[in-house]
Amino acid sequence: MVSARSRFLGAGHYKPLADELVNLIDQPRCLADLGCGEGYFTAAFCEAASKVYGLDISKVAVRAACKQSTAQFVVASTMRLPFLSKVFDAVTVIMAPTSPDIPRVLKKGALLCRVSPGESHLVELRKLAYREVRPVKQPRMEIDGLTNVGCRRVQLEMLLKSDGLVALIAMTPMQFRTSKDFQEQVSQLDQLCVTADFRVDLFRKD
Ligand SMILES: C[S@@+](CC[C@H](N)C(=O)[O-])C[C@H]1O[C@@H](n2cnc3c(N)ncnc32)[C@H](O)[C@@H]1O
Repeated sequence: MVSARSRFLGAGHYKPLADELVNLIDQPRCLADLGCGEGYFTAAFCEAASKVYGLDISKVAVRAACKQSTAQFVVASTMRLPFLSKVFDAVTVIMAPTSPDIPRVLKKGALLCRVSPGESHLVELRKLAYREVRPVKQPRMEIDGLTNVGCRRVQLEMLLKSDGLVALIAMTPMQFRTSKDFQEQVSQLDQLCVTADFRVDLFRKD
């Protein structure tokens, strides 16, 4: 999953999302990217923030992330953050779990930027893969100690060739939840237009 994610993100398909997030976090001094994966977005934040930390529970992902940027990385769980209290001006959580420990590490007035899949995320692939396309689970809108200050939508229409489609499936749970027949069928396609739909929720520390 980590190498597929590197291939897909490295091709720039989610760059508009990275650009939007860099815009939203607004040049923080100290930022943590939790559940950073192989570090594509963490590397983008290094251009905007003075000090950047990436954290992931996967050692393999963190090893890959170390090669992508000058951020400091740690293998740990978001559920129990290995950081002092009130140190970050911004925390990002991109397609990864949040936790009740996040407000503790934010300074007063600091921002949590959470990215989760929107209703149409990868809908074309899900329609091909499943008999019934289930609605995307909506994330919790209340986080103790934080105030929701807005929601943005980032929607991308990506025209993907078979190598992009194969990498996209391999970097998501679809890799385990879809049949080999479906994966074979996708790998034979010339191209397919796929929607990436992200909701970006912003929370501020009270
Ligand atoms: C879908 S990937 C997203 C990675 C990265 N944020 C990105 O968008 O490219 C989810 C990541 O969350 C990490 N993860 C899952 N549970 C975690 C936890 N409890 N603490 C830290 N990371 C976790 C996984 O290891 C994985 O790298």
